[in-house]
Amino acid sequence: MSADLVQRLENAIETVPNFPHDGIMFRDITPIFLDHLLYADVILNLAEFSRGKVDAVCGIESRGYLFGIAVAVAIGVPFILIRKKGKLPPPFVAEKYDLEYGSAEIEMREGQLKPGQRVLIHDDLLATGGTTEAAARLVQKQGATVSQFSFLIGLRGLQGEQKLAQFDAEIHKILE
Ligand code: PRP
Ligand code: ADE
Repeated sequence: MSADLVQRLENAIETVPNFPHDGIMFRDITPIFLDHLLYADVILNLAEFSRGKVDAVCGIESRGYLFGIAVAVAIGVPFILIRKKGKLPPPFVAEKYDLEYGSAEIEMREGQLKPGQRVLIHDDLLATGGTTEAAARLVQKQGATVSQFSFLIGLRGLQGEQKLAQFDAEIHKILE
């Protein structure tokens, strides 16, 4: 991977302490969209990882859409939205997962993913891995295979990657 891309991404992403809660170092990706050449290089990097290896991309609401759709177009496969509870009309399949406090649910329209398809699950950032793990279970529930995970950022020290090891899929992070 290009060291230059890592450096340009590190320069662009802003770290905001104590947002949205005390003790959280929030990684703000929005400046990436101010630099269309940087955005294009991020998509090329993610597309190179997945080209020819997956039949569909599933992106997680909402920041997973910002890059996931462009990756799907670049590699010529369908994009399927994984949404937070209550946004999709039926029929849909759902999966619950635990948050630091309480629980949440994600959903996908039934039938958009086909049994046997090899799937890339994409999100902007991997923290505890709870959201991505639930997305992977949602994909498996429909008879598809989780082949790859990709992220712009993987946060160290939160065991996210360990949580994903059970799926035996390739994992790509541009930055740690
Ligand atoms: C963020 C991020 C990932 C998730 C990572 O999304 O985009 O989806 O948290 O956290 P985890 O690995 O601990 O599950 P958020 O729920 O803040 O929603 P957003 O994308 O709509 O901002
Ligand atoms: N989602 C979960 N943890 C995050 C963090 N530290 N920065 C941005 N998004 C996040």
